[in-house]
Amino acid sequence: MNTKSNTSWDKRDLRNALGSFGTGVTVVTSGNSQSRFVGVTANSFSSVSLEPPIVLWSLVSTSPSLEVFDETGRFVINVLALQQMDLSKQFSKNLEDKFAGVEFIEGLGGVPVIQNCVATFECKTIQRTVVGDHVLFLGQVENYVYTNKTPLLFCQGNYMQVAEALLSN
Ligand SMILES: Cc1cc2nc3c(=O)[nH]c(=O)nc-3n(C[C@H](O)[C@H](O)[C@H](O)COP(=O)(O)O)c2cc1C
Repeated sequence: MNTKSNTSWDKRDLRNALGSFGTGVTVVTSGNSQSRFVGVTANSFSSVSLEPPIVLWSLVSTSPSLEVFDETGRFVINVLALQQMDLSKQFSKNLEDKFAGVEFIEGLGGVPVIQNCVATFECKTIQRTVVGDHVLFLGQVENYVYTNKTPLLFCQGNYMQVAEALLSN
């Protein structure tokens, strides 16, 4: 076991510790054809409220995509399927055109909705707060679709896939 209890933590080490918490993988998209399209691989996505339906995610403040998320006031959470690991890699790089070869339609506000995902949630930004070195976005879900495709997972710095369901009792 690796016990840590002081404040001179190594950032990489803290990230490793936080990475113990397994998640799904999303690409959060924004922008439209009048401005530009942006998309960022993110596993900070979480559901917050059902009534009204609210979700959150956070973006590092230095992201070149931040201004587009702010200007558009909307975002789409695209939950990636196991077969979409390439998209996760593509949208986690600082590329000139992240959407090259990506199949998408323009949804509410013209924001890209990536096709063949496990689920997509089209959201309107209702709150934006700077928290430490990230910007926290809260969005109200205005439209969603989902399928029974197998999701892509991320844990301990690796892409993973769902094993068999465990019996809980
Ligand atoms: C699995 C995974 C999860 C990530 N989650 C986040 C996240 O929640 N927030 C974030 O700002 N960056 C996250 N990143 C890093 C961004 O995807 C990466 O910095 C990307 O280049 C950001 O796009 P940008 O250059 O347009 O800002 C994640 C990367 C990976 C591989």
